[in-house]
Amino acid sequence: MTRIAYVNGRYMPHRKATVHIEDRGYQFGDGVYEVLPIQKGVLIDADLHFSRLARSLHELSIVMRMPERSLRAIVANVIRENRVQNGIAYVQITRGVARRDHAFPKLAKPTVVVTARHGPSLPEDVESWAATAVTVSDIRWGRCDIKSINLLPNVLAKQAAREAGAYEAILIGLDDIVMEGSASNVWIVNADGVLQTRPLDNHILPGCTRAALTELLAERDIVVSERAFSRNALTGAREVFLTGATALVKPITAIDGIPVADGAVGTVTRRLFDLFIAHAERQVRSKLQSDFSRGAM
Ligand SMILES: Cc1ncc(COP(=O)(O)O)c(C=O)c1O
Repeated sequence: MTRIAYVNGRYMPHRKATVHIEDRGYQFGDGVYEVLPIQKGVLIDADLHFSRLARSLHELSIVMRMPERSLRAIVANVIRENRVQNGIAYVQITRGVARRDHAFPKLAKPTVVVTARHGPSLPEDVESWAATAVTVSDIRWGRCDIKSINLLPNVLAKQAAREAGAYEAILIGLDDIVMEGSASNVWIVNADGVLQTRPLDNHILPGCTRAALTELLAERDIVVSERAFSRNALTGAREVFLTGATALVKPITAIDGIPVADGAVGTVTRRLFDLFIAHAERQVRSKLQSDFSRGAM
């Protein structure tokens, strides 16, 4: 089956899908992106992802003339064309093509690329979903709340993790404060047994998985402390886990080669993993049911 990509108004074979060499995404990293999880052909937490995309575009003053509903229709088409049941959709929007000059061009039209690829179905077993992490210095810029395509520090961090045989690199900022993962948000059950994650600000990405989980916790009156914590608090935590579109809720059982607590998946992490998986499954069921009733009408 030929993979299909969408580029600026055209659906084309993935291997022929290209953008201009003076695209500002290529030249300057002047663009934003989203990764949306797909399960059984259904986008998970789509509203959160599309609203974060709109915010990222707004923060960089990239003006999209295409309405969001058209972009959503394109994403749905790309998923269908590629027959992706489980996997991810990728949306990238740059400021467009213009003669190379750092300042914003007057006439450029945003470049829109949408792809989709196959991936695993939701994990059933939290134990086999567990992974390890390493810590590295956070060398990123001051607007990490924007999901920009400038990912070089994240690339270097993930590579350091890979070379150490770990899944994720946890970024440590000034004063030894834990920021987030190279592609995930970091949570702990601290030494006092309190669920904790760093507050949102310009130094980390407001994760959609984090937002969805936070809502699930609020509905169940489970308290989360949104307070910064140190590298020592991380390594001394009772439990550590990550959230992200591909990590979902991922237990971290060792950091820098040293087990977290007894090195087993903790009870809080296990419960939150179950909560999030059930939340994703509910969305799949309700979308499939509404599609079915529409078709049956
Ligand atoms: C730096 C960073 N932090 C956090 C996340 C988690 O965000 P989400 O839950 O929306 O995938 C990501 C996802 O790619 C990321 O790149």
